[in-house]
Amino acid sequence: ISGVPGTGKTATVHAVVRELKRMAEQNEANPFTYVEINGLRIPEPAAAYGLLWEAVCGHDVSREGHMKISSHQALKSLQKHFSAGERAGPGGHACVVLMDELDQLMTSKQDVVYNFFNWPTLVGSKLVVLAVANTMDLPERVMTGRVRSRLGMTRINFQPYTTPQLEKIVRARLQSAKEGLPTDTPDVMAPDGVRFAAMKVSSISGDARRVLDICRRAVELVQPRSRTARTDDVKEVIKSMQNSPTAAYLRELSFHERLMLAALLRCIKREGVEEIKWGESG
Ligand SMILES: Nc1ncnc2c1ncn2[C@@H]1O[C@H](COP(=O)(O)OP(=O)(O)OP(=O)(O)O)[C@@H](O)[C@H]1O
Ligand SMILES: [Mg+2]
Repeated sequence: ISGVPGTGKTATVHAVVRELKRMAEQNEANPFTYVEINGLRIPEPAAAYGLLWEAVCGHDVSREGHMKISSHQALKSLQKHFSAGERAGPGGHACVVLMDELDQLMTSKQDVVYNFFNWPTLVGSKLVVLAVANTMDLPERVMTGRVRSRLGMTRINFQPYTTPQLEKIVRARLQSAKEGLPTDTPDVMAPDGVRFAAMKVSSISGDARRVLDICRRAVELVQPRSRTARTDDVKEVIKSMQNSPTAAYLRELSFHERLMLAALLRCIKREGVEEIKWGESG
């Protein structure tokens, strides 16, 4: 699955898995185990083995915490499990794995992605892997032929959201926020404000995160005055975002300064810490 940020890749997979889980509970679909591996949230790509192994043996992380097992041991166990022709999930069920932020799981030998794409091809493994990346050409650009040969044939590219789609997303959010409140609760945001924000964002990126952020800020802006946010408020929010000292500072940066900042942000995202040593961001 590919697509630029905020096009609903993760949200869509989550919604589908939720629905399938519901169906499985009502005996309308086969039961399955689900595990999520996010490249940005694990210390190193090989840590993915531990997470998959936990899912395969039915280890309940929420109750018992993570298993005390090295990535190397986990890999060994997985290899043994799958080469013996065993099913992925406990009780012979299927196991569905979401590999999110796939770019971060690429290693120089590409062994982690190879294994995760190879095991599902083994007869009877019942392992289903969904891989999500920001760029459509990740396989062609970075994967070796060996890894590419294991990719499934189904590829989905998520398009940026259009104005009506963004409007619908914001409206649904507003609706769910109103659930359980008295019916005469006034709206925090007027439809014209939502439409304007959706139009603006769809003309730039189609990023749902962005439109939700703009609307949230517009609501926060009018909150002290206890009134409904309208188009003018959205305009003000967008203007203040564009004129913020941070935005102005970024506009003034040279190409190399931008490059440095991008490297730094990537490190921070990856390591999950606020402080990065100069040498590590190179
Ligand atoms: N179809 C949708 N309905 C409701 N909310 C949505 C929808 N699509 C996206 N969103 C919301 O927009 C935000 C961004 O969506 P999501 O995290 O799925 O993007 P993504 O494509 O995975 O982006 P990234 O590449 O940055 O991971 C989330 O808060 C999500 O809940
Ligand atoms: Mg995502």
